[in-house]
Amino acid sequence: MRNRLVLGNWKLNGGLTQNSVLLAQLASKIIFNQGRKEQACGVCVPYAYLSQVQTLLTNTSIHWGSQDVSRFESGAYSGEVSASMVAEFGSRFALVGHSERRAIFGDTDEFVAQKFGAAQRAGLMPVLCVGETLEERAASKTGEVVVRQLNAVIAAYGVAALQGAVLAYEPVWAIGTGKTATPAEAESVHQYLRRYVANAESAGSVKVADTLPILYGGSVKKSNAAELFAMPNIDGGLIGGASLVADEFLGIWASL
Ligand code: 13P
Repeated sequence: MRNRLVLGNWKLNGGLTQNSVLLAQLASKIIFNQGRKEQACGVCVPYAYLSQVQTLLTNTSIHWGSQDVSRFESGAYSGEVSASMVAEFGSRFALVGHSERRAIFGDTDEFVAQKFGAAQRAGLMPVLCVGETLEERAASKTGEVVVRQLNAVIAAYGVAALQGAVLAYEPVWAIGTGKTATPAEAESVHQYLRRYVANAESAGSVKVADTLPILYGGSVKKSNAAELFAMPNIDGGLIGGASLVADEFLGIWASL
């Protein structure tokens, strides 16, 4: 049985008042019961709000985390926030390698792998984001790109490092554009990634491919979540814009 998750990525959005309104709406409705034990819900917030989110979500069924971590532990790196600092606020997750970090802030595959390692060492669950651009898809390079991004982590830490981690497939062309990959398009990439992990581990003793949650992200809404989540290799979603609207996020959670 694989864990299934719905994670919100607030990106560069929020404010103390609006966060508390949104979180109160979510926390009053997202309540785990026996039947949903293997499911989890979380929000990845700007660093500045980790303390507020910890206060508001402790003793609720919603976890929280950051949208990035530094690849460094400490030292003269002005502006950086380390994984252990994120963990100090009770965080469960950290996104690494989001396409916006890669495209706008220069995160290379190697930097992302280092961030993955930093998150894991701090006790956070790394959520490794991979995905191709429209040009790469048009050139039939989707598989090559997502495997290159995943492989940077496997090369650095071995396939066993994926145990306790989460993978998120987010086609760049579907992020914030309203264009969602069809369930079949997303499923075929998820299946490809899971097979790649299975092949990578066959030489060793670790078996993570079957238990690795692979989330889909890119214009997920309450109106399309159920058909995406129904696919056998889609284990939940990483939600951007719709995670800021309580009714949308709750509808997506209900579709899990
Ligand atoms: P949207 O849901 O706004 O397309 O964003 C997806 C995303 O980037 C989540 O990390």
